[in-house]
Amino acid sequence: MPQRKTADTLRSARWFAPDDLRSSGHRSRTMQMGYDLQEFMGKPIIAILNTWSDANPCHAHFKHRVEDVKRGILQAGGFPLELPALSLSESYVKPTTMLYRNMLAMEAEELLRSHPVDGAVLMGGCDKTTPGLVMGAISMGLPMIYLPAGPMLRGNYQGQQLGSGSDAWKYWDERRAGLLSEADWVGVEQGIARSYGHCMTMGTASTMTAIAESLGLTLPGASSIPAADSNHIRMSSAVGRRIVEMVWEDLVPSKIVTQAAVNNAVAVAMATGCSTNAVVHLLAMARRAGIPLTLDDLDAAGRTTPVLANIRPTGKTYLMEDFYYAGGLRALMAKLGNILDTSALTVSGLTVGETLEGAKCFNDDVIRSLDNPVYHEGSLAVLKGNLAPNGAVIKPAACDARFHKHQGPALVFDTYPEMKAAVDDENLDITPDHVMVLRGAGPQGGPGMPEWGMLPIPKALLKQGHRDMLRLSDARMSGTSYGACILHVSPESHVGGPLALLQNGDIIKLDLEARTIDMLVDDAELERRRKAWIRPEDKIGRGYGWMFARHVGQADTGADFDFLETGFGPAVAEPDI
Ligand code: FES
Ligand code: MG
Repeated sequence: MPQRKTADTLRSARWFAPDDLRSSGHRSRTMQMGYDLQEFMGKPIIAILNTWSDANPCHAHFKHRVEDVKRGILQAGGFPLELPALSLSESYVKPTTMLYRNMLAMEAEELLRSHPVDGAVLMGGCDKTTPGLVMGAISMGLPMIYLPAGPMLRGNYQGQQLGSGSDAWKYWDERRAGLLSEADWVGVEQGIARSYGHCMTMGTASTMTAIAESLGLTLPGASSIPAADSNHIRMSSAVGRRIVEMVWEDLVPSKIVTQAAVNNAVAVAMATGCSTNAVVHLLAMARRAGIPLTLDDLDAAGRTTPVLANIRPTGKTYLMEDFYYAGGLRALMAKLGNILDTSALTVSGLTVGETLEGAKCFNDDVIRSLDNPVYHEGSLAVLKGNLAPNGAVIKPAACDARFHKHQGPALVFDTYPEMKAAVDDENLDITPDHVMVLRGAGPQGGPGMPEWGMLPIPKALLKQGHRDMLRLSDARMSGTSYGACILHVSPESHVGGPLALLQNGDIIKLDLEARTIDMLVDDAELERRRKAWIRPEDKIGRGYGWMFARHVGQADTGADFDFLETGFGPAVAEPDI
């Protein structure tokens, strides 16, 4: 048995135990809040990193849910300290929350480092909050549990189920094609987000919380529970109780986020029909744990792991609420059989295998089996070629199969406003075979890789009945998006990746089976264009955005800051007190 912590060896004891003036100040200031010494001395002090704010509808319930976490911590003999953290609402934060994922990661790490805490509960769910909190907490290395916000209830309008994001795009295209009235559109707005909780399609939020669970960082089954279900309240207090025990056990993230756990998370991501954003975040999280995950590993997993979750947008019918009623992530993981490494340890103290004992599926159409998948391969494929030497990502199951092998002329845009004006021009000179390209939208160029990658279908084509076409960019797209979109082209154009050399009319060739993406332009011509290329100005001249563009890595390595990566410098020592 590993050594259990004692009251004397708790990290927080360095702040509170010594008989000196500084510690006296810490004790006295805790008593200033009305606590008696016996309430906190010698007890595991648990940080609750709460990403609640008035500006995050997905986390609205965290304002109250945090009290359930505190209840659990107190029941188990710990002492809770709620520490608010950057809220990162996907709906409001511009130009993109991805610009701030690394900021949240820094904040999480430094909040934990600088405060007198022994363990942490991470409360997140809206897209970037999961990787941000997890990356920081992995780097800090204290025992921690991730508490997912849970998906919101299914959307509903006039008897139609509405899925977050996906149906907004779909109905907006109908509206642009003149087929949906303003009143109907308002009805969609009112019905598509009708409770707190994160997006309830298999978008980035549901994908990332499922990944957190399959990394072993949540209590078993936690990521599938709808936010508004009372099971979510009970799970929250259970998290509070469990984290206290984890501190005594000294169950730190390095024992959980192992190569086996990362492999499991990659397989689960593929089987859920994950958001393309999962790629960037998985790479970044694994690398924080010192595990050298690559795009090639993800592509290999994609070739062998079929999509089992029949959840929109990759699946056709269902939403996260259905997934929960069908047995949730435990049922899906049980169906993956020996694709998973069941020996991996989880925050529950049990192995993955032990947490899956008794897992049942109650609806085989919602959670398919390996011999009847939603899609025969995994959710994502990685492409390489002279347009993306370090890789690009596509979601084959979410696009029309006729684009899996495609060749067509490029129509290139250097800015988002330029692209937006063109797609709304009813006389735009474009054919269904064209490949629409947006560049300057990568990690440094965006900056922050905005979710612009699902370029709108031009009105000119919508009116002819087209609803999909091949698109390519160094941007990301929302996890709730769909269509033939090649994303995360690396290196990005802003730093001189070959995408910067593409010109209107160049033929782009995609061969999904061969995993290639090329521009049919000869090397001498590309060399000529490279010599003439001038690096664009950075968009932000001071402050955080300036720092971001200087330190962010490319998409194929997770777009972390260089100085936050494991191995950038020596491990950070505990603070002097
Ligand atoms: Fe928060 Fe989609 S907007 S998860
Ligand atoms: Mg999203």
